[in-house]
Amino acid sequence: MNGDSADVGTDADPNESAGATARTDHTLDDEAMLRIRGLDAGYGDLQILTDVDLDVADGEYVTIVGPNGAGKSTVMKTVFGLTTYMDGTIEFDGEAIEATPPEEIIHEGIGFVPQTDNVFPGLSVEENLEMGAYILDSVPQDRLEAVYDRFPILRERRDQKAGNLSGGQRQMVAMGRTLMLDPDLLLLDEPSAGLAPDLVDDMFDRIDRINESGTAILMVEQNAKEALRRCDRGYVLVDGENRYTDRGETLLGDEQVRQDFLGG
Ligand SMILES: Nc1ncnc2c1ncn2[C@@H]1O[C@H](COP(=O)(O)OP(=O)(O)OP(=O)(O)O)[C@@H](O)[C@H]1O
Ligand SMILES: [Mg+2]
Repeated sequence: MNGDSADVGTDADPNESAGATARTDHTLDDEAMLRIRGLDAGYGDLQILTDVDLDVADGEYVTIVGPNGAGKSTVMKTVFGLTTYMDGTIEFDGEAIEATPPEEIIHEGIGFVPQTDNVFPGLSVEENLEMGAYILDSVPQDRLEAVYDRFPILRERRDQKAGNLSGGQRQMVAMGRTLMLDPDLLLLDEPSAGLAPDLVDDMFDRIDRINESGTAILMVEQNAKEALRRCDRGYVLVDGENRYTDRGETLLGDEQVRQDFLGG
């Protein structure tokens, strides 16, 4: 697409030289569940994303990494209808969803957990989870129980105010609230941010399990190496544009990617 590096075909071919060479073709060959093509978006008149292509297949686990200010969060917010859409297409299950507002997007089966301000601090844990199902006529008790089974500490703390929980527990509330609608695609913006180091692995394990249960994941992470190690595919985004895409392991093994984006 942006042709600023060697064209290496469509497969994650191991290269002869040290490490693999990451792809610069950013699309999947097969039909993707989320299919972004030539996306331009930003905030008001300010354009941040230029010609972004990104795919997430059904059940896939995809990570976006890149420097601060690269536009990673802007991609997620744009999928969820929270930015100024300018050009290009976003399809979900074959339906055009670009410039669709969040209250309609959640009906499509997409859930979004923003990085910050993602719980109602004055509400109890259970009230927060119930809020996740506000578009339904009643709270689905089986979903609530499924969330409690996934995050047992939340069952214990169900009556506590979310604002009094630890960072890790608040992150669980935010994820649990989004899971109340059993989304097909979960957008996670830096789920490990602000967590104590010994809780980061636990959070990644929980995300693995959500993915293993069939939910596709599109995740932004500062903890890039760990995210790439766990995901199916990764995207490196720089200055609002695609730079590399490949299997997480291939990106991890690419000399250029390591040097420029993963701290060597
Ligand atoms: N609400 C906003 N209004 C105007 N500009 C914004 C807004 N939010 C983000 N930006 C700008 O858009 C650019 C991309 O921001 P974005 O938050 O998408 O980057 P990011 O890759 O998620 O960075 P980080 O790793 O720091 O979270 C930055 O220059 C940022 O200042
Ligand atoms: Mg961000």
